[in-house]
Amino acid sequence: MTSPPEPSPAMADVVRARLDRRALLAGAAAGAALLGLPRFLAADEGLRRRPPFRFAPRPLKILDDHHVAAGHRAEVLIRWGDPVLAGAPPFDPAALTAAGQARQFGLGNDFTSFHPLPRGSRNSTHGLLCVNHEYTNARFLWSDETRYGSRKPERIAVEMAAHGQSVIEVRKTKAGWQVVPDSPYARRITATTPMDLAGPVRGHARVKTSADPTGTRVLGTLWNCAGGTTPWGTVLSAEENFENYFLCPPGTGGAEARNHALYGLGAMPGGLPALAWHHADPRFDVRREPHEPNRFGWVVEYDPYDPTSRPVKRTALGRFKHESATAVLNHDGRVVIYSGDDEEFQFVYRFVSKGRFDPAKPQAHQGLLDHGTLSAARFDPDGSLHWLPLIHGQGPLVAKNGFRDAGDVLLETRRAARLLGATPMDRPEDIEVDARTGRVYVVMTKNRFRTATQVDAANRRACNEHGHVLELTPPDASGTPPVAGAAPGDHAAGTARWDLFLLGGAPTQGRPNNPDNLVFDPSGRLWIATDQGREQARNGCPDGLWACETDGPRRGTATLFYACPRGAELCGPTFTPDGRTLFVSVQHPGQGRHPDGRATRRDDPATRWPDFVEGQPPRCSVVAITRPDGGRVGG
Ligand code: FEO
Ligand code: CA
Ligand code: CA
Ligand code: CA
Repeated sequence: MTSPPEPSPAMADVVRARLDRRALLAGAAAGAALLGLPRFLAADEGLRRRPPFRFAPRPLKILDDHHVAAGHRAEVLIRWGDPVLAGAPPFDPAALTAAGQARQFGLGNDFTSFHPLPRGSRNSTHGLLCVNHEYTNARFLWSDETRYGSRKPERIAVEMAAHGQSVIEVRKTKAGWQVVPDSPYARRITATTPMDLAGPVRGHARVKTSADPTGTRVLGTLWNCAGGTTPWGTVLSAEENFENYFLCPPGTGGAEARNHALYGLGAMPGGLPALAWHHADPRFDVRREPHEPNRFGWVVEYDPYDPTSRPVKRTALGRFKHESATAVLNHDGRVVIYSGDDEEFQFVYRFVSKGRFDPAKPQAHQGLLDHGTLSAARFDPDGSLHWLPLIHGQGPLVAKNGFRDAGDVLLETRRAARLLGATPMDRPEDIEVDARTGRVYVVMTKNRFRTATQVDAANRRACNEHGHVLELTPPDASGTPPVAGAAPGDHAAGTARWDLFLLGGAPTQGRPNNPDNLVFDPSGRLWIATDQGREQARNGCPDGLWACETDGPRRGTATLFYACPRGAELCGPTFTPDGRTLFVSVQHPGQGRHPDGRATRRDDPATRWPDFVEGQPPRCSVVAITRPDGGRVGG
């Protein structure tokens, strides 16, 4: 395997030119700080020189417990089954109920975001923590379940209640971070919470069902993986592997059959889904409701500060297996959302709003995510990237190809992008933007199905088992001074430059396997979370969070900072605005195999983290990482 290249001269010039613009941008960023805009707008700190990481790396060793670098403290903040809403029952893994689970912290914690209290402040010791609950596995919920999804309606109701999101109020005290009990902000969103469809697909014939003949109101959100936050302080939660919930036997689906197949419905023998919810609710049976799957695969927006507000599915951002939804404020006030479609040979996307966000009027954002242009990326071998707009009536996106209107294009985003010639990638996962340089980092986690004849410049390895990260450099912005809080560069331009940043597969040399989620800390330093899946034991390396260099001689290499317990992957890294707290989601501890090779089971798990109570299953948990000396995480 080759080492990641140094920046090309062209890229170095671009970066230098940007640094010359610091004075201008610093003025804009100061405005952002005054407004108390959210974390991705913290360019004021990112513009200063990045401090070096200062910590002793963790050994690359899989252990039953989690571990953080010396000089830091990692404390479990909240676990599956802990109370979220007032009146939640105590966690009892032997007597799970849907009513209890709907008031407790859900399973599969993934994306997290921190929202200071009071709203609009940059408070780093008191705020709301929003957490996605991605999925459930019945084998870890009940001792006698051998399938991934239970077929018993009362258990399916528990699974549904363990999905969605949690909003918790958290406060930093002398004893560490704590959940504020019975908070008025506390909220559980589940697989049955009513939410609106907005944007071009709202009311479309292909999202109408017998329960919702208007095609405007959906029950619930599914497989919420990563996400993002908006300039106005709301959460974007990304619906990923929604095919896992729908029974779709061969020959069913009618006019939607091709569409459903393209999203993986019916791929398993007999068209059986991983979760067997059709045993409890006929809307998950495609034979009964062929349009119900079209109501998933979107990005959901919700306001964490208002627990009574109704979440909204923003259909203008496209329908696919969204890993994340990363918002950037462009220099001209347009809002740009980057998102990857996490499946082998799928695409990288970008949405650009038609309207502009005014940082002086942060509440005037209505419609910004409902009107705009979605594009898919084509990576050319000469290092240029072309954004291909998915516009109805243009090129192949016309009626003779089955696209009768803009709604059709969004409902079948994957097919539209492929027809336009977007580049099939090695499972695009998270995307993050460096607020200091404007460079965009795009993760490809793995693709073991790519053959030698299918390699290309941007996906250069056949049987890519270890993943890679690309770096995009948008062109310089021109014209009027940027709006407050905007990222450098023109993220709405039709082209960008791209370069290889990191090739996974050599953890002992600083190149972690299977990068998944990314985050920049407020000092502008990049962190990479990994998900090796079943290969964790074979690789002999824990999943965790790595501190990654983006400049200098060690650019594109990373150091393990936090190691998950055995079997877990790391998700959802989020920093408080002061960089002194890092929240991470530890997902599916104990999954996989014991060190001696025997399969892990609920009653014989490979670890009982975090409680280590005999007879109790492991619990997905969110961890707060701080320093006892109160300093910045990572040194
Ligand atoms: Fe839910 Fe792409 O991981
Ligand atoms: Ca992920
Ligand atoms: Ca991220
Ligand atoms: Ca993953």
